[in-house]
Amino acid sequence: MNNLPESGKTALRQQVLAARDRLGADARRQAVSRILPQLVALPAYRGARTVAAYMGFGSEIDTGPFIETVLSDAKVLVLPRVDAARRALSLHQVAARDRLVAGPWGIREPAADWPEARMDEIDFILVPGVAFDRRGQRIGYGAGYYDRLLAGRQPHTDCVAIAFDCQVVARVPTEPHDQRIDRLITETLNDEFFS
Ligand SMILES: Nc1ncnc2c1ncn2[C@@H]1O[C@H](COP(=O)(O)OP(=O)(O)O)[C@@H](O)[C@H]1O
Ligand SMILES: [Mg+2]
Repeated sequence: MNNLPESGKTALRQQVLAARDRLGADARRQAVSRILPQLVALPAYRGARTVAAYMGFGSEIDTGPFIETVLSDAKVLVLPRVDAARRALSLHQVAARDRLVAGPWGIREPAADWPEARMDEIDFILVPGVAFDRRGQRIGYGAGYYDRLLAGRQPHTDCVAIAFDCQVVARVPTEPHDQRIDRLITETLNDEFFS
């Protein structure tokens, strides 16, 4: 045992993931039906031309309905692709007819040769995460991919996360590289954070 912040993150990840894994199908469906309307009603989303989303993984909230909405709203949809060698995400444009390919951890992703988008082109980014607090802090799965991606964010990019209530904790342990989000929506919360 040590007192590094990382040890607190690891325990918290395990706890929150276990709670999220226990949610039943009804709770999941109900959460999506409460969260999605609030997400797509945000002025930041409505005004966005280019939207970055992600494919839900494991027991994460199903992002499929959001991705469909982005496409039917005729916005530019981009999804991340994992570059494991560089430990980085690249963002690529995705059209409705495109077939995603299997990436690491079984997450479907754009192919490497699809048009790449720069962070400064993204108006709205849906940020995944394992645990969140009500100061806008998040922790992910422990590889820091979104911290590195969001380190290059522009001031005009809105960073929003959706999560189940069971993923919200009193205080997420943080380190200096951790990037905050601007808003968190759950079944019962719709919090905006100011830096
Ligand atoms: N901007 C960055 N530049 C370099 N390394 C980074 C950056 N952001 C995060 N990392 C590294 O990623 C690793 C995992 O970060 P951590 O915050 O623990 O994971 P997560 O955000 O996925 O929960 C850490 O070792 C951290 O140093
Ligand atoms: Mg982090």
